[in-house]
Amino acid sequence: MYVITGATGHTGRVIVEKLLAEGKPVRAVARSAEHLKPLAAKGAEPFVGSLEETAMARAFSGAEAVYTLVPTPLTAPNVRASQNRIGEALATAIAKARVPFVVNLSSVGAQLSEKVGPVTGLHDVEQRLNRLEGVNVLHLRPAFFMENLMMNIPMIKNMGINGTPMKGDVATPMIATKDIAAEAAERLLRLDFKGKSVKELLGPRELTMTEATAILGRAIGKPSLPYVQFPYGEAEKAMIGMGLSPDVARGYIEMYRAFNDGIMKPTEQRSAKNTTPTSFEAFAEEFAAVYKQ
Ligand SMILES: NC(=O)c1ccc[n+]([C@@H]2O[C@H](COP(=O)([O-])OP(=O)(O)OC[C@H]3O[C@@H](n4cnc5c(N)ncnc54)[C@H](OP(=O)(O)O)[C@@H]3O)[C@@H](O)[C@H]2O)c1
Repeated sequence: MYVITGATGHTGRVIVEKLLAEGKPVRAVARSAEHLKPLAAKGAEPFVGSLEETAMARAFSGAEAVYTLVPTPLTAPNVRASQNRIGEALATAIAKARVPFVVNLSSVGAQLSEKVGPVTGLHDVEQRLNRLEGVNVLHLRPAFFMENLMMNIPMIKNMGINGTPMKGDVATPMIATKDIAAEAAERLLRLDFKGKSVKELLGPRELTMTEATAILGRAIGKPSLPYVQFPYGEAEKAMIGMGLSPDVARGYIEMYRAFNDGIMKPTEQRSAKNTTPTSFEAFAEEFAAVYKQ
């Protein structure tokens, strides 16, 4: 049995579908029964539950391998403490259910314990899972998700600009989430990792936000779409206005600052091993299809 948490999200859904396509038994975990229905229709066993210890010990029972992630709790008064609670619950459930293999979704920058916003919580979760004796754990550390830019569609439509607090000229790796899922599914099928290990996933190439905006602009028929770097203070206020807790907003600003200051970056040189196939231009076509809906 494979157990996939975050099964209705970007990475989890694709992993579930790939494992089912290989004829594997899969338990799909999320809180929304409604969102799990399409996966159940494809043959997954739905498990409705929150990422806390009692539910996860049941969800993980009989699992040969689990895929774990720690969603960013957007309204938490203390984001790192919340992430640590989820990490602790996952670790305890893995130990109780005696799961031998774990693929854990982490992030580029998770080697750092400070100054990288919500990624510091993922650092803590990596450390916690690494303390599990006799469990093989592979941490996947992907770059900035291309799909994050989908959130900017209303801004592009309403204000005619694309913007984030990231500097326009900082080149950073960006990855398509389906490529993270492909790596996770392959490693879950092969179960070829021993002990504790890390794999960075860096997308096809580094891109600046100005370059990314130009590619998106061309795909949606707005070739002169400008990129604007938002001031930290204004962006933080806007995030709070959208319902994020002050601590989460502070954390995201810290993370953008870390990108801009060159702190939040991969530890490895780009290579065939950490390069993933989906180009930003291919993602831009998906972006344009959503934009035009
Ligand atoms: N965005 C980036 O650039 C980036 C880069 C590197 C790493 N990451 C990491 O990627 C992760 C997100 O992965 P993703 O994009 O695949 O997921 P996602 O699309 O954000 O979806 C989250 C999934 O988790 C489930 N979920 C949320 N809260 C839950 C809870 N309390 N208990 C049980 N299930 C819960 C959701 O379903 P329900 O709501 O139905 O429960 C959904 O299936 C985060 O840990 C983030 O730090 C993100």
